[in-house]
Amino acid sequence: MPYVAAVDQGTTSTRAMIFDHSGRVVSSEQREHEQIFPQAGWVEHNAGEIWENTRRVTADALAKADLRGSDIVAVGVTNQRETTLVWDRTTGEPVHNAIVWQDTRTNKIIEELGALGGGQERYRAKTGLPLATYFSGPKIKWILDNVDGARERAEAGELLFGNMDTWLLWNMTGGTDGGVHVTDPTNASRTLLMDLDTLNWDAGIASDMGIPESMLPEIRSSSEEYGQVRERGVLAGVPIAGILGDQQAATFGQACLSPGEAKNTYGTGNFVLLNTGTEKVMSENGLLTTVCYKIGSNETVYALEGAIAVTGALVQWLRDNLGMISTAGEIEALAGTVEDNGGAYFVPAFSGLFAPYWRSDARGAILGLTRFVNKGHLARAVLEATAYQTREVIEAMNADSGVPLKSLKVDGGMVVNELLMQFQADILGVPVIRPVVSETTALGSAYAAGLATGFWKSEDDIRNNWAQDHEWTPDMAESRRDALYRQWKKAVTKTFDWVE
Ligand code: G3P
Repeated sequence: MPYVAAVDQGTTSTRAMIFDHSGRVVSSEQREHEQIFPQAGWVEHNAGEIWENTRRVTADALAKADLRGSDIVAVGVTNQRETTLVWDRTTGEPVHNAIVWQDTRTNKIIEELGALGGGQERYRAKTGLPLATYFSGPKIKWILDNVDGARERAEAGELLFGNMDTWLLWNMTGGTDGGVHVTDPTNASRTLLMDLDTLNWDAGIASDMGIPESMLPEIRSSSEEYGQVRERGVLAGVPIAGILGDQQAATFGQACLSPGEAKNTYGTGNFVLLNTGTEKVMSENGLLTTVCYKIGSNETVYALEGAIAVTGALVQWLRDNLGMISTAGEIEALAGTVEDNGGAYFVPAFSGLFAPYWRSDARGAILGLTRFVNKGHLARAVLEATAYQTREVIEAMNADSGVPLKSLKVDGGMVVNELLMQFQADILGVPVIRPVVSETTALGSAYAAGLATGFWKSEDDIRNNWAQDHEWTPDMAESRRDALYRQWKKAVTKTFDWVE
C-alpha cells in the first residue's frame, strides 16, 4: 500500500510522520534539538543539528513501520516559520546559527526601518504584516550587518537565505551538488519581503533592508514537485511535493478549506488562522494577513492570523527554568489541585507581545500575588494565559471579519489537556472541537504533497478524512467569564513599557 511522508520541522523538535490514504498516522518519530539562548531575548538553533535530526527521524519512522522508500509516493515539508538561516552555497556551511522567530535582537533594526517613514505600518499594505522582530527580513539584515564579511559575500552571490523549509529542501535535493533553492508563499509571506498580491519578492523592501535578491529562494506554489530526494538515504528518489509553513499546514490538515473556517494550534505559541478565501483581508485589530495556501496553479487562498508567541513554551519554562514540574503533562494535575487561579495572572511576554498588541517593549509578569497563592494557582495561571490570549485574538478576528466565530477547531500538543480545553470553551463562550488526528501540521503538508502527485484527488478527500474526536461546550456563567477576562486585560497592560 502506498503512503505519504511528512517532515515537520518545529521550534523544539523535528518529526517525521507517515500517513495512509485515510489520513491516519502509520508511524511517527521525533527528536528535540537544542534551544540556544546566547543572551536575554536571543534564541538560536543549530541548523546542522536540525538537518541531521531530519535524516534520523525519517529513517526511524520508516523502519518503525517496516516500510521502504519505495512505499512512499511523496514527501511534504512543513516548518517553524520566520526562523532565519544564511549559508554558503558552495560549502553548505551556515554563516551563523539560525535566528529563531522568538528572537528579539532586531528591535533596533525595526525602529530604524520604521523611522524611514510609516512606523510600524510601513510595509503593511504590501506584506500584510506590521514591522516586528518576529519576521525574517530584519533577521537577515542583522546577519549581514553583524557577521564578518557576510554582506560582501552576499553581494557576490555566495550566500543563500532560507527558512527551515528551504534549508531542508536544499539539503534533501542534493545540497552543494545541485540542491534546489525554493520556498512556498506561506513561508515567503512571513519574511516581510513578499508582495501578497504578486507573490514575488518586493525589490523596494529588500533594498530598504540591504538584502541582495540573489540570496532569496524562488517562490513556488505550496503543492507541486520541487525535486526528488537525492541524498543517499531511505527516501532516495521520492518526490518532494508539498511545502507549507506549519500553521498554514495545520489549517489545511484541519480541512479549514472554506472562507470563515478557523483553527487554533497549541504549540510553542498559539496560532489562530481564519481562512478568508481568495480575498486578502487587511486587519484593523492587530492581526496578520498572510497566505493560507496556494495549491499548484489554483488561486491563492489567504488567511487572517492571530499569532501568540508564548503558550506551550510557558509550560516548558515552568519545567526547565523553575523545575516546578518534571514533565509538561504534569501541569494538568497540579492545576487541578485548586478550584481557580486564586487571583494570580501570568502574562508570558517573553518575546514582547505579539497579536493583537505587537509590543516589543513588554516583558513577562506574574500579577495578583498574595500569600494565598500556591503552586497549583500558578500552574492554573499558566494554563489560563493560553486561553485568555486565544480569546484576545479571536475577538480581533471577529471584529475584522464582522462574523463571530461559532466554534473553534483545535490541534497541537496542548489539546490533550482537558482542563485547558474546558477552560478555553468557558472563556470563549463557544464550543472547542478536537479532531481524531490532532497531528494536523504534518498531515497538512502530507496532503499538499499527496495532492500534487495524485495520491489524493481533490480537497474533498481532505474534507472527508476529517473526523471529530471530542467537543467541549462552554459551562461558565457569563458574568464570571467577563470578570476573569477583564482582570487579564488589566494584567497585560502592566507588562508594557518595560524595555527601555
Ligand atoms: O511562526 C512560528 C510558528 O510557525 C512556530 O510554530 O509549532 O514550531 O511553535 P511551532
